[in-house]
Amino acid sequence: MEIIKTRQSRIDQVDFENLGFGEVFSDHMVIMDYRDGEWGEARIVPYGTIEVFPAMCSFHYGQMIFEGLKAFYTRTEAINIFRPQKYHERMNRSCRRLCIPEVSYDLFINALRELVTLDKEWVPKKKGYSLYIRPFIFATDSFLGVKVSETYRFMIITSPVGAYYKEGINPVKLITPGEYIRAAKGGLGAAKTPANYAATLLPAEEAKKKGFTQVLWLDGIKRKYVEEVGTMNLFFFIGDKLITPPLEGTILPGVTRDSVIHLAKEWKIKVLERRISIDEVFKTAKDGRLKEAFGSGTAAVISPVGEIYHNKKRVIINKRKIGPLSQRLYDEITGIQYGERPDRFGWCYLI
Ligand code: COI
Repeated sequence: MEIIKTRQSRIDQVDFENLGFGEVFSDHMVIMDYRDGEWGEARIVPYGTIEVFPAMCSFHYGQMIFEGLKAFYTRTEAINIFRPQKYHERMNRSCRRLCIPEVSYDLFINALRELVTLDKEWVPKKKGYSLYIRPFIFATDSFLGVKVSETYRFMIITSPVGAYYKEGINPVKLITPGEYIRAAKGGLGAAKTPANYAATLLPAEEAKKKGFTQVLWLDGIKRKYVEEVGTMNLFFFIGDKLITPPLEGTILPGVTRDSVIHLAKEWKIKVLERRISIDEVFKTAKDGRLKEAFGSGTAAVISPVGEIYHNKKRVIINKRKIGPLSQRLYDEITGIQYGERPDRFGWCYLI
């Protein structure tokens, strides 16, 4: 792989004790181009601007996808990329939905390993912090007709990050979105593609103005069933069961969601992937059976939900405090990520 190193690292300008999310970027990035029906050689170059044509079709019609995974500095000083295979599988599923050529696991992991190894000083050492890895692919044909592109660019950039929400692990406040929907069956909801995020911007702005952290999306047809939170999947701990909306094509198949399900099952908690209505959430919260609600996501990890607002009614969950199951899941997932707890599911890719 061709590697062009930066002449001047920017690492000294970074305050590794106070990191936000996605604000600073490491010294290098991966670029790999697709033309004539195949992916070319990946190369690593200094992080910086790229030149593209204004007629580049992904600007106009959104033929693009992305991923988000993390690398952790472990107790043994190895760097752990968490579940790269699972993220790679999801990336290719998104590619298929957007008519983008898939990337082989070998190309993906080699590029990732080389980049993280070269920028290993950028992996934060502080607990709770990590190196966020953002692979993405966009169509590059210069053409204004609506059609599948023949050329593409795959890139990986990385960013040392802290907590995604300003709340950290403190409970977030959610509101249902009134007239808006995020996705409907048959649409793009399960793909990690920018359009899904663009659709959430206006409702999220309105939610923020009302003092809420995020929008709690309901299904696009009946506006009755809970779906996800744009940046997280959702779980409800009701009685002795952990309930999460099923993967029916409208929500993102979260890798952290999958990790939560594995751990809960290991702990002999009954996990149900089934539809759950917002009315059921309110009812079980009122009669005391809803013990905890939390979101799961790569960026957000485990984020307790303390309050939900829907149809002018409000429900408070677990006295707006983090519950024992949310805390246990957070501790276990981050424990495995930082190499402090055994990796019994083979989730850690160490470099
Ligand atoms: C992630 O959790 O990795 C996401 O992609 C959510 C958000 C940062 C867009």
